[in-house]
Amino acid sequence: MNGEIENWVRRVAEASESFLDRKGPYDWLIKQSIYTHFQRLIPLLSMSCFKSAGGSILDVGAGTGALAIDLAWRIGDGGRVTVLDHDPEALQILRTIAERVGVRVEALIGDAAALPVQDASQDMTVSRFLLQHLRDPLAVLAQMRRVTRPGGRVVIVDVDDEVWVMEPPEFPHVAAWRKALRTLQRQKGGDRQIGRKLYGLMREAGFEAIQVLVIPFVRLGLQQGRRAEVEQFKIERLFRERDELIDSGLMTAGDFEAALSELQQGFALDRFEMDAEFVAVGVVPEPVGATSGVPDGG
Ligand SMILES: C[S@@+](CC[C@H](N)C(=O)[O-])C[C@H]1O[C@@H](n2cnc3c(N)ncnc32)[C@H](O)[C@@H]1O
Repeated sequence: MNGEIENWVRRVAEASESFLDRKGPYDWLIKQSIYTHFQRLIPLLSMSCFKSAGGSILDVGAGTGALAIDLAWRIGDGGRVTVLDHDPEALQILRTIAERVGVRVEALIGDAAALPVQDASQDMTVSRFLLQHLRDPLAVLAQMRRVTRPGGRVVIVDVDDEVWVMEPPEFPHVAAWRKALRTLQRQKGGDRQIGRKLYGLMREAGFEAIQVLVIPFVRLGLQQGRRAEVEQFKIERLFRERDELIDSGLMTAGDFEAALSELQQGFALDRFEMDAEFVAVGVVPEPVGATSGVPDGG
């Protein structure tokens, strides 16, 4: 099984590589998809909701396809994966990667808060790293519930930025940068600590049999040596919102210099590091008065 997964991870990376030399918003998204692919795929594949994935699946805010392309691979020709995003360029990249690795997806351009999808038409609706950016995540959960059939599942994958442990501990300016990022996202209406709130949000949106799984990602220092491209990626990540953070007064140029220098010192440390993805799964209830899982006439 691991050989099959390794092979798949390599194929997706090769299919994605041609998009990496364009400097722009997708470069970072694709790099983080590639660098975390293997470690996030293994626990996802063991989760019952993904194991039994079949029928029709909708990925809301699919971006360049980090989750959707894996789902299309798992369900094969027997199912249908639809991807939705409001960004046509991201969807074009997703479609190209899907074609190159030989999986089928149907792409829809649209708004997560007003899904252009029929009621109860999906067996499962998923979303990864979208809710943390939204002012009104509940409205999107309500839409995801509407388009998923009774008894079907809605699966949300997102972060909680304070679930981050290191030994030796994070340097102070890098820690301050992470905190500033959280504040900036909150000022824009988002929430990088949404992981812990997913249970409450799903309850409020009316889902049943909710589960929240926390998948730890552990990185173990230098035993496999240093990887220049990952270090470069981390430096690019540090500078991605630099202007916004400085303009909003959350950091100074000097803070960035100090954080960069600490980040580079950290690359040489043989460090234990752990963060986590939160996966919340909820079941869409049967309509009030229904007596079985089979809709009328079915
Ligand atoms: C951080 S990316 C995550 C992409 C992908 N799910 C992944 O895991 O890599 C968030 C995506 O949500 C999309 N998005 C944000 N707000 C949206 C909205 N209101 N409707 C549709 N898509 C949205 C963005 O265009 C972007 O592609």
